[in-house]
Amino acid sequence: MILGIETSCDETAAAVITPDGHILASVVASQDALHAQYGGVVPEVASRRHLELVTPVIREALGDAGVTLDDVSKIAVTQGPGLIGALLVGLAAAKAIAWSRRLPLVPVDHLEGHVASLYLLPTALEPPFLCLLASGGHTLLLDVHGHTEQRVLGTTLDDAAGEAFDKGARLLGLGYPGGREIDRLAREGDPAAYDFPVARVPGLDFSFSGLKTALLYATRDLAPEELAARRADLAASYQRAIVRALVGRVQEAVRQTGAATIAVVGGVAANSELRDSLPGAALAPLPLCTDNAAMIASAGRFAAPVPYPGYLGLDAYASR
Ligand code: KG4
Ligand code: ZN
Repeated sequence: MILGIETSCDETAAAVITPDGHILASVVASQDALHAQYGGVVPEVASRRHLELVTPVIREALGDAGVTLDDVSKIAVTQGPGLIGALLVGLAAAKAIAWSRRLPLVPVDHLEGHVASLYLLPTALEPPFLCLLASGGHTLLLDVHGHTEQRVLGTTLDDAAGEAFDKGARLLGLGYPGGREIDRLAREGDPAAYDFPVARVPGLDFSFSGLKTALLYATRDLAPEELAARRADLAASYQRAIVRALVGRVQEAVRQTGAATIAVVGGVAANSELRDSLPGAALAPLPLCTDNAAMIASAGRFAAPVPYPGYLGLDAYASR
């Protein structure tokens, strides 16, 4: 069995998978409620919470899977990118367990982890494919040509797609994290009510900062009751613009690369309009879109393990 551990942002997660990619257990302890009062993740608060949660979450995953550490043959853990203090908690926990059991440790890149959410059963997609990775921290178009080989075709020049959702939600007075809230509210609104811009940047890159500013202009002069009356229309139109930007780039990338298979991963892949807009695409299953440890364990099937005790010197990294 592979034990996966993920603590890069505000989810403390542990999972157990089989060597062929069956999920036996996937536990995600979300810190959403803790950070909601601040309107976003507070790194130091996240680190402290990870410290409290990491051991119980690992225990729960092993218990759910019906296994013990005796059944674990390697430990996969997110090394970066992410919040450095948060990453260090998971990495230290993984090192300690691996060291005490003389097990190998597989350091996993969080973004490769998102892609590896597709390699788990029952999806079990095989490269090559074109992958849109849209999360709170990243928006990438990837040419995935091997389990551990990927080329970046495009990235965001400013905000990530999930960040655009979160900042938009804040302007609309919705809760944190905002993507899910906008998704829910957009169902009650008219996506054609506002004509929000889709940025035209060269190549296959993305830009969302102009869109966010357009929403700011549309909302800042509204009285509270006007905002309440227009909120669903604003959410629907704003979501439509983000989805159009993402889908447009995917289609352009398909034209340029001739890719036969499209896949979508990351927190924003949970968005219902985005999922409906890419019929035929391989979509990460909903529970595996947002951060989880099953995807990290999945990446751990393919990435090179570091043998005992060399991994004790590994450090976390905040950015790629
Ligand atoms: O992958 P993820 O859990 O964390 C990062 O690696 O960043 O992605 C979190 C992001 C947040 O920005 C959140 O608002 C967004 O995913 N998100 C959504 C939805 N569910 C989560 N965005 C749009 N629609 C959703 N249903
Ligand atoms: Zn993520």
